[in-house]
Amino acid sequence: MTNLLQIDTSIRTAKSISRLLAKEFVEQWIANNPNNVVTYRDIGQFPIPHVTEAWMDAADSSSDKSTIDTIGELFLSNELVDELLVNDRYLIATPILKFTIPSTLQTYIDLIIRNGLTVGNNEHSSQGLLHNKKLLVIATQRNNYPHDNQDEVVKYFESYLRHIFEHIGVINISFIYACNQSTANMERAFALSDARKAIKGFISDW
Ligand SMILES: Cc1cc2nc3c(=O)[nH]c(=O)nc-3n(C[C@H](O)[C@H](O)[C@H](O)COP(=O)(O)O)c2cc1C
Repeated sequence: MTNLLQIDTSIRTAKSISRLLAKEFVEQWIANNPNNVVTYRDIGQFPIPHVTEAWMDAADSSSDKSTIDTIGELFLSNELVDELLVNDRYLIATPILKFTIPSTLQTYIDLIIRNGLTVGNNEHSSQGLLHNKKLLVIATQRNNYPHDNQDEVVKYFESYLRHIFEHIGVINISFIYACNQSTANMERAFALSDARKAIKGFISDW
C-alpha cells in the first residue's frame, strides 16, 4: 500500500487540463494497485491564505509541534505538514503561469516550510526532514517550451520546484508536461497524448 497526496492548484475546474491529467493519473494508479490510498487537496478552489506576521511569530516561537497552539495561527500549516509526513508520494498538478508556479501553489509552499518539522532547525544543519518521498509534477502550459532543459522558462519553473522540495528533503522529483494547451487543435491533442503516455510510464514503477 502506498499513500499519495494529490494536490490540484488550477483556479479552473471543468476546463482545467492539469486537473484532468492528475485525475487520469490517480484513476490508473489506483486501478493498478487498489490498496493504494489517496489524500486530496484542492488549493485552486480553496486557496491557502498568505502568511501573516502573526503566523511568522507563531512559527518562529516553537519548532516543537506539541507546544504549538494548534487551533491558532499554525493550524492549517500543521495540517499540511502532517499530510506531507504521512504520505509517501506527492502529485502536484499545476499550470505554468507567468513563467512560474501559480500563487495558489506559492502560498501552499510558504506553509509547508517549517523549521523543525520539514527543515532541520539545528544551527549546523538545515537539511530537509522528509525522507523517502517522491514528487511528480504534472504541468500544463499554453506555449511549447522545448523540454530539453535548455528552455529558460522550463529551467526556472523546474529548478524552483526542485529547490523548494529538496529543501524539505524530497529529492526524487519528476515532471510531466502538457504543452500547447491554449486552443483546441492538433498540437494540443498531440501534446495531451504525449502527456498521457508519460503518465502511463509512471503508473507501475512510481
Ligand atoms: C494568468 C495566466 C498566465 C499564464 N502564463 C503562462 C505562461 O507564462 N506560459 C505558458 O505557457 N502558459 C501560460 N498560461 C497558460 C496556462 O498555463 C494554460 O492555460 C494551462 O493549461 C492552465 O492550466 P489548467 O488547464 O490546469 O487550468 C497562462 C494562463 C493564465 C490564465
